[in-house]
Amino acid sequence: MDIHTYEKAWLGAALVLIVFFIATVTYGTVGAGVEMIDDSGGTVDPNNLADHERFGDPGVEQVGENEYEVNVIASAFFFRPGSDQRGFDPIRVPANSTVTFYVTSSDVIHGFSIPGTNVNTMVIPGEVAELTVEFDEPETYGLLCNEYCGFDHHNMEGTVEVVP
Ligand code: CUA
Repeated sequence: MDIHTYEKAWLGAALVLIVFFIATVTYGTVGAGVEMIDDSGGTVDPNNLADHERFGDPGVEQVGENEYEVNVIASAFFFRPGSDQRGFDPIRVPANSTVTFYVTSSDVIHGFSIPGTNVNTMVIPGEVAELTVEFDEPETYGLLCNEYCGFDHHNMEGTVEVVP
């Protein structure tokens, strides 16, 4: 009977160790993943974006002489603003400006990428991705979701107009 009890105790201890190892590996993976995600903009309640100071009325805001902030909500399957082909405003900022994007998601994980610039991040519900870029020359850029987010992922796109 005593041996049986010891056996059980050792089995229990082994189980605890296994769970501990799995937790360590999982935690390590999550930790490594988080480093790749730009969540420097803080957190947000994805179910209550309408009441948020940034995302209640997303769009372009001038915050300095040549400085702009652009608040964007990514949703399946559009950017607001950005997806002009879906009826939203394009993102329009002046040339020779410093632009900080604050992007969050209202539903699932999306991407926010402006090919030709250094803007490329994952957009996670509950987190705000913050990226700053300088636009020197007038140019029209595309805006893409580069994280698979559902059946219409490949049409989740938009336009960034850098105007004179
Ligand atoms: Cu949103 Cu892919």
